[in-house]
Amino acid sequence: MCGIVGYLGLNEKKEILLDGLQELEYRGYDSAGIAVIEGKKLHNFKAIGKLENLREKTKTYHSEGFGISIGHTRWATHGKPTELNAHPHLGAYSYVVHNGIIENYQELKHELQADGVTFLSQTDTETIVHLFEKNHKTTPDAFLAFEKTIQRLEGAYATLLITEAAPDTIFFAKQGSPMLIGFSKEDVYFASSDTPIIGKADEVYYLEDGEYGYAKAGEVKLFNAGGEKSFTKQALTSDKISAQKDGYRFFMEKEIYEQSRVMSETMIGRVRDESIYFEELGEDFFDGITSIKICACGTSYHSALCAAYLFERLAKVRCDVEIASEFRYKEPLLLKDTLFVTISQSGETADTLEALKMAKRAGLKSLSICNVDNSSIVRQSDAAILTRAGIEKGVASTKAFATQTMVLWMLAVYLGQTRKTLSSVLAKTEIDAMLHTPKALIVGDELHAKLHRLSKRYLHGHGFFFIGRDIFYPLALEGALKLKEISYLHAEGYPAGEMKHGPIALADSELFTVALMPRTMHYDKIKSNVEELSARDATILAISPEPFALADDFIQTQYATHPMLEFFEMMVVTQLFALEISVRLGNDVDMPRNLAKSVTVE
Ligand code: M6R
Repeated sequence: MCGIVGYLGLNEKKEILLDGLQELEYRGYDSAGIAVIEGKKLHNFKAIGKLENLREKTKTYHSEGFGISIGHTRWATHGKPTELNAHPHLGAYSYVVHNGIIENYQELKHELQADGVTFLSQTDTETIVHLFEKNHKTTPDAFLAFEKTIQRLEGAYATLLITEAAPDTIFFAKQGSPMLIGFSKEDVYFASSDTPIIGKADEVYYLEDGEYGYAKAGEVKLFNAGGEKSFTKQALTSDKISAQKDGYRFFMEKEIYEQSRVMSETMIGRVRDESIYFEELGEDFFDGITSIKICACGTSYHSALCAAYLFERLAKVRCDVEIASEFRYKEPLLLKDTLFVTISQSGETADTLEALKMAKRAGLKSLSICNVDNSSIVRQSDAAILTRAGIEKGVASTKAFATQTMVLWMLAVYLGQTRKTLSSVLAKTEIDAMLHTPKALIVGDELHAKLHRLSKRYLHGHGFFFIGRDIFYPLALEGALKLKEISYLHAEGYPAGEMKHGPIALADSELFTVALMPRTMHYDKIKSNVEELSARDATILAISPEPFALADDFIQTQYATHPMLEFFEMMVVTQLFALEISVRLGNDVDMPRNLAKSVTVE
């Protein structure tokens, strides 16, 4: 995810910006840049890749005296990771950095292009700086021009703008994306989280949505829709690791809470009113393809299993899924009309990468669904769709799974539309549901508190069965994997209808069953499967929108109009359930024993 740093003062600005950006590296990025105005002179540097590249480019530059400066690390969403797409973006005499998504950027861009503005990048951000300069022509007061600019922006943004028209001032605005202002005796800092300013600033103000203003030497003015605002600074923490967690106890917890937001990023530019669009896929990408084979490991394998239901149901394309480590040694039959899909958060998983190489040797066309651009799997694939989850630090994958599943769902609808196996009415239903997904992923305080309370009853026993049917079966597998990874308790995912073919022999009060009981998918069937377990005294935690009398514990879900909305809401419940049990057991949630985030060995 992108990171912002800003500094206003007398100290050497380049080092402050580069050090600040270094502190934001944990968020992930693929290019970086800085812009400084000292005196009236503007300096700008950008580089793709790691910050060392930017350090190298700026090594002979040192700022002098009072000045204003902004910096940015970019995680590509709109447009590839190139220097032109890196921030700060330049107008004729101003620079801007921005985190978030300007949802109406196409409309603004067309308007500005009609006025003769030439865009250099493919980003949504560049519209801000051109819009500012357009407004500045008719509104010479730079702050009023900035105010006018942000009034036109829709979507999420945290943005800093500097301009030669006001060379002592940094303009700022926040809506939806985080930003703070740090204060030391003489200097003012901006950042998208605490870490870049710890050790530099003493006090901080966390901007609220809708706030904007300007900073110049010794003066910070804050406004919102109601006019000028006073604000209270607070002392700044000195603990960097906890600052990186944005106030959450664990990275995994932070990543669970982030899912709602990153899901919007996964969809942006891809989910349109009536159709799905992938700029990564040429129009003829699926020509000659009659079936799909997906290979992946762990959590990514679970999203693949889910995709198999969706591809066959929505796109009417045959889809087989295999665990990559099994696929590699089975001497598989590989036919050229099969599209070979790999799914991986890291893009470096050895078994998945080797499976991809095998498929390539057999002449299959390949597509990867991955969270890390330029990773080995992405580079080896004919095409890649990035999941845009942002860097995932918790070893137990959460937001990567959510965004993988979303991409696969979008791909199924895309295929259904291009192959005309999905009517426009049904496609519209799917797309409407997609657009509601971020809501279904919001973690309510009440839900989290309930799972915290309830978790104390699940610390013993002889194991867990997570059960579900259809797409809720892979979700059951994923719920069980989450729990075992971080609690070290035995857990299995099972198709609910399969319990009576063996596992039900284990049923007694010490067997915990987590039942995924969606209203929109085979509710009566799963209900009777759970009743069979209850009759054998198994302890039941039911997750459902429908009250269920036999449940020992019950979590009532809200979104019951579409199976995928139920899927994502239940996913959050299972993630928090695992997290709270792990916390109670005193385990290391983010770095569970024996596990690595990226498994680059066989
Ligand atoms: O990076 P990948 O998605 O290829 O990783 C695959 C698995 O190693 C990974 O999903 C693993 O199962 C996670 N720890 C699950 O939480």
